[in-house]
Amino acid sequence: NVLQTEMIKTYKELFSAEEDNSLYFTYSGRCNELEVKNLHYQVDTAAQIPWYERLSEFKLPWEMKGNKQTAISKLSLRVRSGQMLAVIGSSGCGKTSLLDIITCRDEGGTMKSGQVLINGTPNTPQLVKKSIAHVRQDDRLLPHLTVRETLSFVAKLRLPTRFTQEQRDQRVDDVIAELRLRQCANTRVGNDYVRGVSGGERRRVSIAVQLLWNPGILILDEPTSGLDSFTAHNLVITLSRLARGNRLVLLSVHQPRSDIFQLFDLVVLLSSGSAVYCGPARDMVPYFTALGHPCPRYCNPSDFYG
Ligand SMILES: Nc1ncnc2c1ncn2[C@@H]1O[C@H](COP(=O)(O)OP(=O)(O)OP(=O)(O)O)[C@@H](O)[C@H]1O
Ligand SMILES: [Mg+2]
Repeated sequence: NVLQTEMIKTYKELFSAEEDNSLYFTYSGRCNELEVKNLHYQVDTAAQIPWYERLSEFKLPWEMKGNKQTAISKLSLRVRSGQMLAVIGSSGCGKTSLLDIITCRDEGGTMKSGQVLINGTPNTPQLVKKSIAHVRQDDRLLPHLTVRETLSFVAKLRLPTRFTQEQRDQRVDDVIAELRLRQCANTRVGNDYVRGVSGGERRRVSIAVQLLWNPGILILDEPTSGLDSFTAHNLVITLSRLARGNRLVLLSVHQPRSDIFQLFDLVVLLSSGSAVYCGPARDMVPYFTALGHPCPRYCNPSDFYG
């Protein structure tokens, strides 16, 4: 009998330690609100060619007109802490551009009109750095560090000074467990030239780097690309748990599967830069049905409308 209780105890320790991870305490900071108002964004495809290369056209620099292309037009949205907003749409519809504008990382384009407000204040690089974690579409990591070294390095730099070394190590372990990076924790990260962890694992390391400092606003650009459906589903469940814990999660996804789609609170469907639908995820199919485009039975709505 004593042996049995002992066994149950060790069993519980083994298996419950994974589940209630201390990382997912609710976010204790203030509530955040992100608002995009009537955004109009243009990219100049000719601006990438330097003016001196174009002198052969016998025009002075100010006479050269680029061909302007509208990347985003008339987009408004609003998200609060506790919600998860997904930006969906086909390739080239402006998802990355939108997320880059929100985090002040837009390059090569101009904002013609509109505003991005974080808690009512217009976004500036300083404000973004303090409050938003941005996981970009391409991974920018140091290729020669292992996964654990990468995370410990970020833990040393990004966590507040009141954290002790044990707490930092604990946080790194939590993040590794949550993103299922255990089996590659001691592998080199690598990049296009240096062989390291797999592509999906590298994506998860990028996400882990941002989760580590426990941000109030989390922006992810295609976090599920390159992952198998099980891992992708689990990742979105993790993100939705983070959102439940009073965080604001904004992600872009490329035609999600229907089980992933169900996890979203709000959805913005973009089509060549303009929002075709913006609102609660569960109202999307009724909305298009009312417009005369019912979703065929047994068909994934995000495949059909995207
Ligand atoms: N700096 C830029 N210079 C020229 N064109 C640009 C620039 N930024 C964006 N674009 C154009 O704007 C459009 C939207 O690009 P964006 O990267 O936002 O697409 P996306 O929705 O993220 O696509 P994907 O799903 O493939 O990542 C594309 O047609 C792209 O060519
Ligand atoms: Mg993109």
